[in-house]
Amino acid sequence: MSPPKTKILHQCQSCGYSSPKWLGKCPDCGAWNSFVEEERITRLKKRETASPVVLSEISHSSGSRHSTEIKEFDRTLGGGVVLGSVVLIGGDPGIGKSTLILQALKGLTNLGKVLYVSGEESPEQIKIRADRLKVKSDNILLLPETSLEGIISTAQEVGPKAIVIDSIQTIFSLELPSTPGSVAQIRECATKLMFFAKKYSVPLFIIGHVTKEGAIAGPRVLEHIVDTVLYFEGDKGTPFRILRAVKNRFGASNEIGVFEMTDTGLIEVSNPSQLFLSERPDKASGSLVAASLEGTRPLLVEVQALASTSSFGMPRRTALGVDYNRVNLLIAVLNKRIGMHLGNMDIFVNVVGGLKIDEPAMDLAIVGAIASSFKNTPVDTGTFVFGEIGLSGELRAISQPEIRIKEAEKLGLKKGIIPAGNANNIKEPAIEIIGAKNVEEALEILFF
Ligand code: TYD
Ligand code: MG
Repeated sequence: MSPPKTKILHQCQSCGYSSPKWLGKCPDCGAWNSFVEEERITRLKKRETASPVVLSEISHSSGSRHSTEIKEFDRTLGGGVVLGSVVLIGGDPGIGKSTLILQALKGLTNLGKVLYVSGEESPEQIKIRADRLKVKSDNILLLPETSLEGIISTAQEVGPKAIVIDSIQTIFSLELPSTPGSVAQIRECATKLMFFAKKYSVPLFIIGHVTKEGAIAGPRVLEHIVDTVLYFEGDKGTPFRILRAVKNRFGASNEIGVFEMTDTGLIEVSNPSQLFLSERPDKASGSLVAASLEGTRPLLVEVQALASTSSFGMPRRTALGVDYNRVNLLIAVLNKRIGMHLGNMDIFVNVVGGLKIDEPAMDLAIVGAIASSFKNTPVDTGTFVFGEIGLSGELRAISQPEIRIKEAEKLGLKKGIIPAGNANNIKEPAIEIIGAKNVEEALEILFF
């Protein structure tokens, strides 16, 4: 091996962009004052070369997935954890990442010994949590260690069947002079751990805290390295938590798992639509059910809107759970195409239950809820809608209408107002389905 070459680099701590000179503003992510000097050691090694293999001759064992025995967690992973895969779990501090992973590890002990590396909590603290969660197994090994080299050598000795790193921000490599949590450290540690996971076919879970701006520190570096990125999100005021796959090499992205945080840990919510609709007010204006789709799962949610005359010159617009710009666009469509004068109204839109839904199929529900509040006319509680709205007020067909309708039927809803393009293709629906070509038609059906 040739002697190491040392090079000084300046690296942005929010996105990982590096530059030979110090910069005040990152040209890549726009963060100010985020550059820190890092020493980059490059070793020129003679590389082992791989030889090509014939694709059709590669065998893969179908049993390479393993269940965590938490159905909602398995679903988010695309049907269980793939051996040798690297999963990043991100989320705000205190949201329940350590709780979730400890419960999932319990299921993985069927494979053999699993290693829980904690750089944040002492074994006693983890024991207290495990008691509370009733997780008890001789196959869970705790390792209070923060040096990468220490972790890898212990893992080699123990030969665990799964590894958890809680959290990546506390781990550091002795080979780098920078502090734990810096982009260089995170990248180095995650890469080395990934090599280990791939070499020994061990699933590796990396927990990462989210910074205030909503990104996992060094997000770009980590998101490229890992196979699956899961975000654990939820409103701290409510007990509901959603595990969302934002990237998955082994399954559908945008797949979600729904949990409820209780005093004995997280419990699965296997029928979230029912939960999210359970407290729906009867005969209240401004409330409408939307049939949305998250990954492969249909999800019925209540969209609420409130339109009230503004006492200020600049009316307020607030969107919780849906895209703010989308709401503004839809308000403009209502103004221009329907002639609904919303210009002097404060408008608030909220998806009940702290859910965040980013799907154009929600458009019709948002528009319907705003119109219902504006007219002060409630919509029949047995009605649901879906459909994307274009700028000329046309209602556009969306994907997979059948499973949305089926879910609505399952929950006892009676009538669906959907894009005509979708309605024409649905044969013999079990409930009343009405197609509408544009917003005007849809609102007419909703309110008359
Ligand atoms: P934790 O898993 O430590 O969060 P993270 O690892 O994401 O920082 O969870 C912390 C919160 O969860 C804490 O506020 C207490 C709460 N909690 C419960 O409500 N019930 C439980 O059984 C457990 C273990 C935690
Ligand atoms: Mg934690």
